Amino acid sequence: MTTTTTGRLAVVGAVGTAHTRVEGRDKVTGAARYAGEIPFAELAHGWLVLSTIARGRIRSVETAPVLEMPGVLTVLHHGNAPRVDGDYTGPMGPPDPALLVFQHDRVPYAGWPVALVVAETSEQAREAAEALVVQYDEEPHDVAFSAGRPGTYTPADTPRAAAEQRKGDPVAGFAASAVVVDAEYTTPEEHHNPLEPHAAAAQWDDGRLDVVDSNQGSAFVAQELAKLFSLDPGAVRVRSENVGGAFGSKGTRPHQVLAVMAATVLHRPVRVVLTRRQMFSLVGYRSPTVQRVRLGADPDGRLRALDHEAQNLTSTQREFIERSADPARVMYDADAHHTVNRVVPLDVPTPTWMRAPGEAPGSFALECALDELAEKCGVDPIALRVRNEPAAGPVSGLPFSSRNLLACYEEGARRFGWAGRDPRPGIRREGRWLLGTGMAAASFPSGAAPSTASVTAEPDGTFTVRITAADIGTGARTALTLIAADELEVAPDRISMRIADSDFGPAMIAGGSMGTRSWAWAVTAAARDLRGQLALGGSIPPHGITARSDTAELIGALPARERHAFGAQFAEVAVDVTSGEVRVRRMLGIFAAGRIVNPLTARSQLVGGMIWGLSMALHEEAVRDEVSGGLVGADLASYHFAANADVPVVEADWVDDPDDEDPVGIKGIGEIGIVGAAAAVANAVWHATGTRHRHLPIRPDRVL
Ligand code: MOS
Repeated sequence: MTTTTTGRLAVVGAVGTAHTRVEGRDKVTGAARYAGEIPFAELAHGWLVLSTIARGRIRSVETAPVLEMPGVLTVLHHGNAPRVDGDYTGPMGPPDPALLVFQHDRVPYAGWPVALVVAETSEQAREAAEALVVQYDEEPHDVAFSAGRPGTYTPADTPRAAAEQRKGDPVAGFAASAVVVDAEYTTPEEHHNPLEPHAAAAQWDDGRLDVVDSNQGSAFVAQELAKLFSLDPGAVRVRSENVGGAFGSKGTRPHQVLAVMAATVLHRPVRVVLTRRQMFSLVGYRSPTVQRVRLGADPDGRLRALDHEAQNLTSTQREFIERSADPARVMYDADAHHTVNRVVPLDVPTPTWMRAPGEAPGSFALECALDELAEKCGVDPIALRVRNEPAAGPVSGLPFSSRNLLACYEEGARRFGWAGRDPRPGIRREGRWLLGTGMAAASFPSGAAPSTASVTAEPDGTFTVRITAADIGTGARTALTLIAADELEVAPDRISMRIADSDFGPAMIAGGSMGTRSWAWAVTAAARDLRGQLALGGSIPPHGITARSDTAELIGALPARERHAFGAQFAEVAVDVTSGEVRVRRMLGIFAAGRIVNPLTARSQLVGGMIWGLSMALHEEAVRDEVSGGLVGADLASYHFAANADVPVVEADWVDDPDDEDPVGIKGIGEIGIVGAAAAVANAVWHATGTRHRHLPIRPDRVL
């Protein structure tokens, strides 16, 4: 294994050394509590009723019979729910219209919340919710996403965030190209299914709103709820101590808003837990995409023009852009570039971020197109990528904070055994199996956002760190413990890491691969300040000595640069010529992702992303029924995803990637593991069979 960088911190040596999760014992013994199971006195239970039509108006909600049912306390709907304020700019901009729940009678998609039944027990609430009759005035709907529909986008305020970017003259570039690849790729609708379904309990406590939740950022959820309910920001507390997965789906969602509404109406704590089936319309999902990639090159593979046009669906409620064309702006040099992300608004729920939004589907198209170009030019796929490696941002012209992609290719090729690979497809046979190997490159933006933290030196010689970080299963709590230990020059077991409580102050969410970097910066800043105070000497008072940090200014002063993590993905597949089944035999991912704080949990994150990429390549696909407008099989029996038996060997590792923009040198590893993985599998399937599969998933019926 390649070692990580050292030397920036005054080291005890915690950072860079494998460390089991600080809360691991609690999690495996069941002592760790999750939002759906934390006890409250007098807790009432809400059960959601979702629309069965895809577009129209609610004519009536027939509450009277249901209110007679055992245990039922109330039925909230658009006719009686508390009003919320939707005219604000929150931590994520204007509110998602899905949060303005029960504020009008319009139904914009199948699975839209139309009522909440609250009862003494969850079973009573469910029975009543299933008995509730809702009448609709139905209108025609349109949920058909397909190639060829005209897409749109709203122009962005800043050129770098623009949905459409150009450099040079692509028309001239393609005209001058000896070799052209022009291919259309599609990826299906994919759904969020963290192990722990979404759950929130709300109660009023002495004039303060107290919410126990499962989210990616308690400070953001608290700010959003304060805005919606016109409360003083200090009057809302949100906690989310343990989270069983999130991946982009656990921001502020309708169920938190509804728990608050019900607790307000009933003057008692109310919990709303989503069912697995409800999650398919309530927590966001990855939009399907249609992508056209055009590559124009010289005979040796040097790119003259690169054009990536991507299209995704969104709802009629909100524009969500899956930025699939963005990786092309970063990965490869070309004289001319054109990239655009467009949307088609339909009568469907609004998509959202799902692990590596943009990069995951975008890298499938781009990296498969590179493989097609390699074939046409007769150039090795790695050599082709090396030939087009940029010295600076290919479109922005900005310098990279660091870019160690070549080292990933080199180490990956060595470990995978790429050298001497016969490029000819369809010639390796082992019984009924055709064998092939493929690779793809990966990148994901690296960033940091302002956060606050406090570190307290306790009289007993321990330290307490408080930060509104979220550990959504990533190991962030442990990583921050190691970072604090090194900065304070103490052993990790002397650090008490308190996270996920909005009372600790504003902080970045666990999102955009920016969580740990953002929080580490704030923790380091507070710890440094504290060390300075302790160096002055004197005894520690009973309430300890506390230092606080706010990194807004430090982060605001960062120069304009391209900041990304990079990686190289490799896969070997066997394709059954009798059934069309694709079996992945092994996967290897080598990443350049800054300093790796905890190799144990980092490897687990990267491997998890790679498995998800395999799942994307071969299994995952949600099918929308155009007649009802809803999903066919919104459950884990019908929604197929990779299981252990699909993943015999997955290795993730990393190369040295010194990047000294923040005090620890982190780039973020939350998303990059999935990027490129599906393309590596698809390219291996081509190498095995000689057939290009441009539409995911690569199902047996498509292979035969
Ligand atoms: Mo991540 S998809 O930004 O939660």
